[in-house]
Amino acid sequence: MVKRSRVLGCGTYLPANVVTNQDLERRVDTTDEWIVQRTGIKSRHLAADGELTSDLAIGAATRALDHAGIPASSIDCIVLATTTPDNTFPATATKVQAALGTLGFAMDIQAVCAGFVYALSVADNMIRGGQARRALVIGAETFSRILDWNDRTTCVLFGDGAGAVVLEGYDGKGDSSDRGVLSTHLHSDGTQYDLLYVDGGPSSTQTVGHVRMHGQEIFRHAVTKLSGVVEEALAANGLESTDIDWMVPHQANRRIIDGLARKMKLPPEKVVLTVDRHGNTSAASIPLAFGEAVADGRIKRGDLVLMEAIGGGLTWGSALIRW
Ligand code: UT7
Repeated sequence: MVKRSRVLGCGTYLPANVVTNQDLERRVDTTDEWIVQRTGIKSRHLAADGELTSDLAIGAATRALDHAGIPASSIDCIVLATTTPDNTFPATATKVQAALGTLGFAMDIQAVCAGFVYALSVADNMIRGGQARRALVIGAETFSRILDWNDRTTCVLFGDGAGAVVLEGYDGKGDSSDRGVLSTHLHSDGTQYDLLYVDGGPSSTQTVGHVRMHGQEIFRHAVTKLSGVVEEALAANGLESTDIDWMVPHQANRRIIDGLARKMKLPPEKVVLTVDRHGNTSAASIPLAFGEAVADGRIKRGDLVLMEAIGGGLTWGSALIRW
C-alpha cells in the first residue's frame, strides 16, 4: 500500500467583469485579429475595484468544499499559489483560512504560472508525509493589478480568477490505477530569471512593479520544456500518451497548447481549453480549466488527467491525476 492524495472536489471563481479584445482596442494600440491569431484569447475576466485575490480564492475554495461535501473544519492545510497576494505578507492563504474556518496551517507558494502544479506537489507531499490529512490547493490571481496597461505586448494576455481542489489522504495500491495524484514533477532554471519578471519588489524597489516579458523566448522554451516534463510524468507511471484521457494545460497561448498536443499525438478533443475566455490567469489557469471540465461532465470519475505549466523563473512542472 502507498499513501496517496485523492481529489475529493473542485471549484472555480471568476470575477463578473468580462473585458473583450474590442474593449482593449479602445485602450491600447492592438486589434482583436492580432490577439486571436497570436494567442487564441478573445476575452478575459478582470477583478473589480476592491475585489482581492483572497476574495477570488475564498469563492473557489467554498465551491470546492461544497463539491467535495466536507466541512471547512476538516481541512488541516491550505496551499495557495499566487503571484498577486493581497499584501506582501502575511500569506493570502491565512486570510482564506480565517474566512473559511479551516484548521492546521496555511501558506502561499510563488511559482507564477507554474504555481498550481507546485502547490499541488507541496500539498500532496504534506499528505503523503503525514503532516496533513485534508488539504485545499488553490490557484488565485488578480494579475491585472501588476500589468502595465500601456504595454500592449503584455496587457492583452492576462486575466483574473481562481480555482481550487480538495485533497484527502488514503491508502492506494501504488500503481497507476489508483485515484488521485499519481505524480508531480517540478523544475526551475534561475538563469532565465530575466525572461519574465516584475520590475519591482519589496527588497529591490519597495514598489509592486509591472510584468515584463520576452514573449518569443518564453515561447521557445515552452514546448521543449513542457514535453520533457510530460515525458517524465508518463515514464514515472509506466504510461503512454495514449493512456491520457484529458490534458488540462496552463492556458498562456493556444499555439503553445496546440504545439504540445501535436508533439504528444493527443487529439484536440482531449485538450481542455479556456484561454479563449479566460486569457492567461497564471496560477489559476489549470484549476479553472479542470473545474470547468469536471462541472460540465467532460472529465469523469476515473479519467486520467495530465496537467502541465511553465512560468517565470523559469519554473515548470507536470502532474498526473486520476479523477
Ligand atoms: O504564462 C507564462 C508563460 N508565458 C508564455 O507562455 C508566453 C509565451 N509567448 C507568447 O505567447 C508569444 O510570444 C506572445 C503572444 C507574447 C507574442 O506573440 P509573438 O508571435 O511571439 O509576437 P512577437 O512578440 O514576435 O511580436 C510580433 C509583432 C511585433 O511587431 P513587429 O516588431 O513585428 O513590428 C510586436 O510589436 O506584434 C507586435 N505586437 C502587437 N501587435 C498588436 C505585440 N503585441 C501586440 C499587440 N497588438 N497586443
